[in-house]
Amino acid sequence: MQSALAWERSTVSDKRVLLIVGGGIAAYKCLELVRLLRKSGIAVRCILTKGGEAFVTPLSLAALSEDRVYQELFSLTDEAEMGHIQLSRSADLVVVAPATADLMARAANGLANDLATTALLATDKPVLMAPAMNVRMWNHPATQRNIATLAGDGISFVGPDDGAMACGEFGPGRMAEPAAIFVAIMERFTQEPASQDMAGNLPLKGRRALVTAGPTVEPIDPVRLLTNRSSGKQGFAIAQALSALGAEVTLVAGPVALPTPPGVHRIDVETAIQMQAACQAALPADVAICVAAVADWRPAEEGALKIKKGPDGPPAINLIENPDILAGLAAQGPNRPKLVIGFAAETNDVEAHARAKLTKKGCDWVIANDVTQPGVMGGEDNTVLLVTPEGTERWEKAPKSDVAKLIAIQIAKALT
Ligand code: C5P
Repeated sequence: MQSALAWERSTVSDKRVLLIVGGGIAAYKCLELVRLLRKSGIAVRCILTKGGEAFVTPLSLAALSEDRVYQELFSLTDEAEMGHIQLSRSADLVVVAPATADLMARAANGLANDLATTALLATDKPVLMAPAMNVRMWNHPATQRNIATLAGDGISFVGPDDGAMACGEFGPGRMAEPAAIFVAIMERFTQEPASQDMAGNLPLKGRRALVTAGPTVEPIDPVRLLTNRSSGKQGFAIAQALSALGAEVTLVAGPVALPTPPGVHRIDVETAIQMQAACQAALPADVAICVAAVADWRPAEEGALKIKKGPDGPPAINLIENPDILAGLAAQGPNRPKLVIGFAAETNDVEAHARAKLTKKGCDWVIANDVTQPGVMGGEDNTVLLVTPEGTERWEKAPKSDVAKLIAIQIAKALT
């Protein structure tokens, strides 16, 4: 099985991105974006603005993009090699990251006073901008006017995110993470008819996916239970992302307060035993992704009556082990999904523990996260490692919905 962020060659490897790197501190994140794109077989050609050069070197962009970097509008060599009109049209998509307030203002007004703005004015291709600036600059009516103008011209945007900024302020203006920009680019490419088969099918059309999500609850007596803090957000986002790529998804969910993603078949369960039975009933599947935080143990007996306080002090609760649903799915014999994926919530030595889990549970990939990181448990973001027999990939922190889309893209790649 192939790991890697590579998307099916026949779908996006013929795509070309013209990346315009503006002058903001977030420019350094573009290096990771270029790496992600190249790894997926997408050709990247970079324009580096004067401001951008203050933050990243042409050499690092050239090394990662495996192409020369264009900087000057009036450069004899550049014009001879590739005129700015050709440069602006030779790509399938123009991405501006970081899109600074100044760059967007000039583009909104149709200025063409450097290579970046000239390419933006000359292009006949879709443009995606990832704005990045101080929160006050972002909120300024002039910037908001420019955004509205650019949006009216058909330009789309990814981000900005809310958060702490290099300037010490807090609020909207942080450039979207490279993974989020990558996902926005991939969505654009994969939604194009060219990425679909002759019948216009999505990459996971006809594939069956099984996803477990949320906590399990294990009753002690009719009113008390053992459970955990899993929110189910990551699993639900994965079910949604797989469905968006065309898969027929069964989502086996512990008790969570989340809406069912569109098109997903949801089965609500409470205990690990119920979750296991629902998973068995959902087979066969092409891929199983176990995201649920299944309780490791359950009370040996569920009292028929509420346990009362008594003179003997607290009661002892005898625990017995729950079945390991993931390991069970990985050991299905002929009914085994082609791809069995586990999650690992770890607090230390994340990679080593995840790799050990890969072997112990017999799965193909383990997606590991460090749950000591603020906001992972129950929060909106995740920072994950993809651990496969071939190696480990570290993904930058990204919203759970983007992590889910990246995982779905990987799954589509592995199943085709
Ligand atoms: O062993 P641990 O609980 O850390 O393993 C986590 C992975 O195993 C997750 O993918 C989780 O969904 C799955 N698991 C399971 N059944 C269990 C325990 C964990 O499917 N009883």
